[in-house]
Amino acid sequence: MKLLTEVNNPLITDRITRLRDVQTSGREFRQFVKEITILLATEATKNLPVTDVEVETPLRVTSGQLITKPGPCIVSIMRAGNVMAETLRDLISEASIGFIGLARQPVTLEIDDYYTNLPNDIGDRHCIVVDPMLATGNSLCLALRKLADAGVSQITVVNILACPEGIQRITSEYPTVHIVVAKIDEALNDKGYILPGLGDAGDRIYGTDDH
Ligand code: URA
Repeated sequence: MKLLTEVNNPLITDRITRLRDVQTSGREFRQFVKEITILLATEATKNLPVTDVEVETPLRVTSGQLITKPGPCIVSIMRAGNVMAETLRDLISEASIGFIGLARQPVTLEIDDYYTNLPNDIGDRHCIVVDPMLATGNSLCLALRKLADAGVSQITVVNILACPEGIQRITSEYPTVHIVVAKIDEALNDKGYILPGLGDAGDRIYGTDDH
């Protein structure tokens, strides 16, 4: 199975270009994050388990498939992942949402692990981890370690932008995780930002960018 998928599509490219634009308002930014998440969802959910069922149409009985219960757990890496998590949850009614709160120290880039709230049965679920940015990979590695410790074996990560350094870190430490990304960018700068990137995704989503 392919474990890194960059989803190339003109609608996604259009939205990413708008996200990058420093003139894009917070309201527009959130909307484009939602739209990209929807556009990535087909790829991100393609390995979810399904159960065969019979369904009665107005004309006859036929066979179909429904998402197997318990449904997936969408795991938001807070705070930037929350909009993506809510958007996916609207598409997958069987899903629950777990939260892992991680804050990156601006200078050392070390991770402050401040909150975790995951469903008790998460070990029985396929997990879809959402974070707009895969930069150093420090936060994602910590989140993946928590999920592995909780017994999760099937994990898909969904990012809007990723850089080669972060991808390399995740694929070497977690070789079975499937990464679905809208765009692989060029590099990481010495402050841990993706280049050319879009700035701080959390600040732009929540309007806390005062730079
Ligand atoms: N997190 C962000 O929000 N932006 C980056 O460029 C890197 C990490």
